[in-house]
Amino acid sequence: MSSKTGIDQLRELEQRFDRELAAVVDHRSLEDIQARYLSRKAGLLTLQLQNLGKLPSSERAEFGRVANQVKTRIESALGLLQTTILEREKNEALVRETIDVTLPGVRRRTGHRHPLTIVWKEIEDIFIAMGYSIEEGPEVETTYYNFDALNTPPAHPARDPRDTFYISGDVVLRTHTSPVQIRTMEKMKPPVRIICPGKVFRRDAFDPTHSPMFHQVEGLLVDEGVTFSDMKGTLERFHKKFFGESTQTRLRPSFFPFTEPSAEVDITCVACGGTGCRNCKGTGWIEVMGCGMVHKSLFRNVGYDPAKYTGFAFGGGIERYAKLRYNVEDLQLYFQNDMRFLEQF
Ligand code: PHE
Repeated sequence: MSSKTGIDQLRELEQRFDRELAAVVDHRSLEDIQARYLSRKAGLLTLQLQNLGKLPSSERAEFGRVANQVKTRIESALGLLQTTILEREKNEALVRETIDVTLPGVRRRTGHRHPLTIVWKEIEDIFIAMGYSIEEGPEVETTYYNFDALNTPPAHPARDPRDTFYISGDVVLRTHTSPVQIRTMEKMKPPVRIICPGKVFRRDAFDPTHSPMFHQVEGLLVDEGVTFSDMKGTLERFHKKFFGESTQTRLRPSFFPFTEPSAEVDITCVACGGTGCRNCKGTGWIEVMGCGMVHKSLFRNVGYDPAKYTGFAFGGGIERYAKLRYNVEDLQLYFQNDMRFLEQF
């Protein structure tokens, strides 16, 4: 190979490099061209330089000079382009990743309380303010607490397996929150002032007015000298707090095995205020609770002296209060977890 050819090849390589350099657009294609020409093993320029040894010594100097020129040109051209490309890519990234702090934020959806929970907590708050504390009891209950200790006779219809869920012969899903009256009196001495909100279960098919599971709130107050009018005053106070000061309360004679005397609690209709409307079937009144003076047999069952203590108890459905508060007719809506319904509260 003559030096002329060698130098020509160098110049050709240089021209080819110039053409290819023009096509370099980013750091990746830059790294490619860098490797293609300068790689220590297979770089196009590296291979040319290996020809140096094959030349006659007289021509080596000239070839070496040109080769160095070409190498320096390639290296500096690549160096320059690298600075430009890195700078440009950095600026592009800055623009691309800029955070526009003036854009509206993404609002995080927060959960909110179920309407039954809202009503539950509100009832708790009203009684807590009146000096009551909150009690709990098991949802799976023995027939002793659910019926016997509450003075419910062995043949009482509420015990029928067609009405009550039996787990076994003497274990049931509690049908009301009243067993908590017994459990509370067993563990504390008077004065007792408690309410117990919770789930109860009855063997009803699910329809707009029935649910096999619903919620009640139980109340119990026992002390020396507690009277029927204390009960009336307490229930009046509660309903005024819950439904508004103009709400009136009336008691109608009724019967429960665990209270004597017993009464149903009516309030003036939340829709018409008592004048009579479709909501109250023209009567002006709506039934909300059962109540009564604690039966002496319950005191005997828990070891309280019936000659010393008297007390009252009451119990009502939380769904009923929610229904009156929110004017929701269909009970099923509370249990279907349809967001379109729940979002409204
Ligand atoms: N436990 C009764 C019911 O489920 C309600 C009630 C409670 C009545 C306390 C009187 C006293 O209907």
